[in-house]
Amino acid sequence: MPVLVVVGSQWGDEGKGKIIDLLTERADIVARYQGGHNAGHTVVVGEDEFILHLIPSGILHKGTQCVIGNGVVVDPAALIEEMDGLLSRQITFDGNLLISANAHLIMPYHKAIDIASEQRKGNRKIGTTGRGIGPAYADKISRSGIRMADLLEPDLFREKLTTRIAEANFFLEQFYHAQPVDENKVFDEYMGYARRLKKYVADTALLINQAVAKGKKVLAEGAQGTHLDVDHGTYPYVTSSSPTAGGACTGLGIGPNRITEVMGIVKAYTTRVGEGPFPTELQDETGKLLQDRGREYGATTGRPRRCGWIDTCVIRHAVRVNGFTSVAITKLDVLDALDELKICVGYTCKGKQYGEMPSEISLLVDCTPNYITMPGWKQSTIGITKYAALPKKAQAYIEKISRLSGVKPALISTGARRDETIVLEQPFKGTTAPRKKAKKKTR
Ligand code: GDP
Ligand code: IMO
Ligand code: MG
Repeated sequence: MPVLVVVGSQWGDEGKGKIIDLLTERADIVARYQGGHNAGHTVVVGEDEFILHLIPSGILHKGTQCVIGNGVVVDPAALIEEMDGLLSRQITFDGNLLISANAHLIMPYHKAIDIASEQRKGNRKIGTTGRGIGPAYADKISRSGIRMADLLEPDLFREKLTTRIAEANFFLEQFYHAQPVDENKVFDEYMGYARRLKKYVADTALLINQAVAKGKKVLAEGAQGTHLDVDHGTYPYVTSSSPTAGGACTGLGIGPNRITEVMGIVKAYTTRVGEGPFPTELQDETGKLLQDRGREYGATTGRPRRCGWIDTCVIRHAVRVNGFTSVAITKLDVLDALDELKICVGYTCKGKQYGEMPSEISLLVDCTPNYITMPGWKQSTIGITKYAALPKKAQAYIEKISRLSGVKPALISTGARRDETIVLEQPFKGTTAPRKKAKKKTR
């Protein structure tokens, strides 16, 4: 019953899409468990680049069952746009894409509230993606959300919409002085989405549990990252869901005892999009070099990503709250050009030394990182697939990060493409060959 959860260990964009696509080779089911179309997961196959927002990154493997779990918030317009984008590139998914009937819908008023709230916050803004994620999760928790299943029952949908839109419009107009949302227009629009999406809606928790009982391999795809988690991240500069491994249980409807492995995705340096503390941020030419070489621009919003050195306090925190059994270190090749590399091992804050991340955000904002310095390797690692072929100094960097984080790497990524990877340990332990090797077709 192997269930492997893949979680971002930093502030998102660690390269989860690439690793999920790679691991899908050995999986039967790939399931997103939280977040929405705030995510942007890039998969590069040969010369083709795909950016997945809501659809699991396993979709490029024909025959893999892809699931959008109950923990995800779904903007049906965004989902249909993504489906059409894939269809136009000959990626078909009838029969192998399912959406949980319990997944909550992102409604136009969620997006309007998200944008108005950010505007009102001014320089205290979160820097959200403006996709309505926070307000949709707020409705879910306050029990006024509308779910995929409701979309399929027009009378019930109308009733829920009428109640909620009256409140939302009052809030939008009276509090934010923003435009209200037209109920009839929303109703007609969403009924159109219902016709298109109906056949994909299912009891996905039942399906996943039945598959697990049969010994099928499930890959749970996390979006965002540990430090954007609403509980364990740099609150309030976080997203509104639970990207950490526990979120896979609630977000898919599986018991914690079903999870057999948790893989953390660790970028070889750090990036962050949006506002919030980032102790190792580099606002100099090294930061710019990382941004350029790593093509660090948001896959969803196109915003430049803030860049900085790797922070092992950030990684250790992620190891603790997720229980990583292994990590995948990504984008090692981006560091090829650097003369030396710094690794954050603790902080100095108001004259006091911290070996771990302080939980008070007010402290974290004022922290100065304590670094160790390692020599750069100054040669290309792009596309290397064997550990022994890495420059010795690159191996030393990997080993130092591994020792300081307390977790062994299973994969090292040396380029955006699927095949640009060093595999040190196969995931889904106990299985040696890719799933249904003869039949499996990658597109
Ligand atoms: P995700 O949100 O975690 O899936 O990550 P994103 O797709 O938002 O950002 C990661 C970016 O790095 C994408 O453009 C990937 O194609 C790219 N990428 C992933 N792994 C590597 C790698 O090992 N080396 C390089 N140079 N790029 C990579
Ligand atoms: P993937 O899955 C990086 C950030 C936003 C903002 C904060 C809250 O591609 O790693 P939200 O719209 O979620 O309410 O915004 O979270 N954020 C991400 N940053 N990668 C992501 O996803 C992100 N999804 C949200 O920039 O700071
Ligand atoms: Mg991303």
